[in-house]
Amino acid sequence: MLLMRTDHVPVLANELVAVLDPRAGEVAVDATFGAGGHSREIAEKLGPDGLLVAIDRDPEARERYDELASEMPCQTRFIEASFAEALAELAREGLPVDLIWFDLGVSSMQIDTPERGFSYSADAPLDMRMDPSEGITAAEIVAEWDERRLARTFREYGEERYATRSHAQSCANANVAQLKRRRSSLRS
Ligand SMILES: C[S@@+](CC[C@H](N)C(=O)[O-])C[C@H]1O[C@@H](n2cnc3c(N)ncnc32)[C@H](O)[C@@H]1O
Repeated sequence: MLLMRTDHVPVLANELVAVLDPRAGEVAVDATFGAGGHSREIAEKLGPDGLLVAIDRDPEARERYDELASEMPCQTRFIEASFAEALAELAREGLPVDLIWFDLGVSSMQIDTPERGFSYSADAPLDMRMDPSEGITAAEIVAEWDERRLARTFREYGEERYATRSHAQSCANANVAQLKRRRSSLRS
């Protein structure tokens, strides 16, 4: 059965299916559901006795899942949580999982929505939270953390091995300038 196609093109979908080799009746876990592009491809192979568990911490991914679920040719379930929490839950339940994959990164839905604060091209507040109901925004981090902690974060999590305190300082200055511009435009 071919599912409805959308303009979202998942990355390396054929390669993913080839490597995982999903079979009818298996239990598959998509740890980073996003727009569901990979899940749709895998679901086609699982058939009515198969189960696809979709995980994502972003509430928009759940909306996307709700749109797609009725078209999936297998049984499905969505867990809105970080994959660490969701996988612990599945382990507690003792679900026998045959295949699992992680497509780590940012989804096109997140990048293309300026107010989510992931876009490099849109003039929007720096947010960058995968779950907008949790944690602090990138703007708060840049404004409140000292340069040493920012530089370490860029190096360790951004894979920017040449990050220095002066890069972090420039970033903090740019953020303060942006905040000032926003406040002055609100006043006028
Ligand atoms: C690159 S997108 C996945 C795209 C997806 N494979 C598709 O075909 O549409 C990555 C997704 O992982 C989610 N994500 C990132 N870190 C996560 C985490 N720790 N726990 C759960 N979901 C996470 C993001 O919210 C995003 O929707």
